[in-house]
Amino acid sequence: MIHNYQTKLIHLGRSSAKSSNIVNPPLVRASTIIFKNLAAFKASYQQPVFTDLRYGRSGTSTVFELQNTMAGLEQAETCIATSCGLSAAIAVIGAHASLGKHILLSEGIYGPVKTFCETELAKQGTSISYFSNQYNMEEKIRNNTSLIYLEVPASISMEMVDIKNVCNHAHQRNIPVACDSTWGTPHFFKPHQLGIDISIHAATKYINGHSDVMLGLITASNAHMQPIRQWCDRYGSHVSPDACWLTLRGLRTLAVRMQQHQKTALIVANWLRQQPEIKKVIFPPFFTGEALNLYQQQFSGCAGPFTIELVTCNEASFERFIDGFSLFGLGTSWGGFESLIMPAIAHQDRAKKIMPDQGRLVRLHIGLEAAQDLCEDLKNALNRI
Ligand SMILES: Cc1ncc(COP(=O)(O)O)c(C=O)c1O
Repeated sequence: MIHNYQTKLIHLGRSSAKSSNIVNPPLVRASTIIFKNLAAFKASYQQPVFTDLRYGRSGTSTVFELQNTMAGLEQAETCIATSCGLSAAIAVIGAHASLGKHILLSEGIYGPVKTFCETELAKQGTSISYFSNQYNMEEKIRNNTSLIYLEVPASISMEMVDIKNVCNHAHQRNIPVACDSTWGTPHFFKPHQLGIDISIHAATKYINGHSDVMLGLITASNAHMQPIRQWCDRYGSHVSPDACWLTLRGLRTLAVRMQQHQKTALIVANWLRQQPEIKKVIFPPFFTGEALNLYQQQFSGCAGPFTIELVTCNEASFERFIDGFSLFGLGTSWGGFESLIMPAIAHQDRAKKIMPDQGRLVRLHIGLEAAQDLCEDLKNALNRI
């Protein structure tokens, strides 16, 4: 039994390699699974789907190795992998939705999840509402609330939620709480220890860490996973063993990568705070008061994405700023080894709702380059404003 998280990162998920005397689990691709006899065939249908060999759609040993590793890291009973982070969130929400039900969401959730809830759930008669902080959360719970869904910190606005408080209110009414845990990663954030029932990761980001895979991971107890498993089975969910193999390889170095992302992000964010062209750096370690307390109680460190607010500038200056980077790539996503910049245009509706008075918001992801080079790239871009 391994207790230490860093040792788990290295040693979990390798049992299928042992029989071949190799270090990494083999990549096993399959559609058809051949059973040695009728008893084995029947036995495979006694196991929950996505946990054992049955048919390619429900996974191969490569998929199970990643799922078991992630369950071990998050100290959860079970894990299932999905095709991307968005599909993981949709599976969790979809499994708790039906005619007449209500789902309560924290306001700053990832835009496409919000779009799914506002369009697809409405079609099937599930109502939704949002809460923006812990203070008005309790009164928004209804008799028919079937799930509370959080993202902490929120995308772009980086808003904190008091997870223990939400879980206390939810659990008194037997309502499960799901959380998008992507920003914190298993390195800085222990969702199940804070009371979260269902944790969702866009493994596309830090867990894979190399900007070449799309993958989602969900961890929960067997009881909480049961409706999600069923939903995934019925809607034809499948994940590629190749994506799982690459993700397992990336995951081995999560601890060292996260330490470095944190170190460089703090240097760059502190430097940005001193630049006259920057009105505000929105980054949990820089919060004050209750928001800072929540960050410190719930996270043991910070990841590389944060948001900056520029001083007022016209469209032409903004374009010169965005277009002039040599190291920061202009693109969505984050969590890879490289630094990225993204104007918050794709998230405009949501950002406006949360921060109506604010100027141009830009999300940075601080990669693994040297902090000095990143600051120089930013300085040159700011000069062009
Ligand atoms: C917080 C968060 N959750 C979920 C997702 C969706 O993940 P994916 O791109 O793998 O679908 C993203 C993607 O940017 C994200 O930022």
